[in-house]
Amino acid sequence: MLNIALPKGRLGDKVYDRLSRIGYTCEELYKDSRKLIFENPACGVRYFLVKPSDVAIYVFHGAADIGIVGKDILEEEHPDVYELYDLGFGACRMCVAGPKDFVEDRTRPLRVATKFEHTAKQYYLTQNRNIEVIKLNGSIEIAPLLGLSDVIVDIVETGTTLRENGLDVLEVIAPISARLIANKAAYRFKYDEIRLLQERLKEPEKEIKSTEEHS
Ligand code: PRP
Repeated sequence: MLNIALPKGRLGDKVYDRLSRIGYTCEELYKDSRKLIFENPACGVRYFLVKPSDVAIYVFHGAADIGIVGKDILEEEHPDVYELYDLGFGACRMCVAGPKDFVEDRTRPLRVATKFEHTAKQYYLTQNRNIEVIKLNGSIEIAPLLGLSDVIVDIVETGTTLRENGLDVLEVIAPISARLIANKAAYRFKYDEIRLLQERLKEPEKEIKSTEEHS
């Protein structure tokens, strides 16, 4: 049985959709339920639904063999796991954002609100800019609106949240997408199963559909 940590929410929905198309179906998974563990012995798969920021923790400790996680979290936490494959979706950007007319006061440290403390510190270190980090856990866009920070470092996907709160992208730090990760021991012991899943993920969507049509 392959144990897979799936991030709950937008990314997890996309990931499950892709995995089910390549043969790792679990019928009961997305039914209206509060269950967090689902398995389909016929496909040799067991899914855990966890918070996106916890996927790498489950994989690192071996509670899950593999998981799918955003590159943003890998960059922030540097977990000791194998990063196997860029799924190419869940694409977004790590950005500095702020008021459209933002003018930086270089006489004092820049106040940066973010969930991504390490990423923000690293970025501004490369810019030789002193900052004061204000660590938040969500709804980061509110911080500059209330004067809590000058700017934010956050993920921008569609740009809707920024737009609807009168903010703009000021700098792009890095592109982000979903990555397949594996526990280091599980990668040895379940090498064949993990490689098979990875190879199937790489197959173009069209070929998979035509295989389904013929089966
Ligand atoms: C993320 C991110 C932004 C938003 C960006 O928040 O922190 O707030 O999505 O997406 P958009 O560009 O498509 O509007 P999330 O939805 O994870 O919620 P959070 O505020 O609780 O972190």
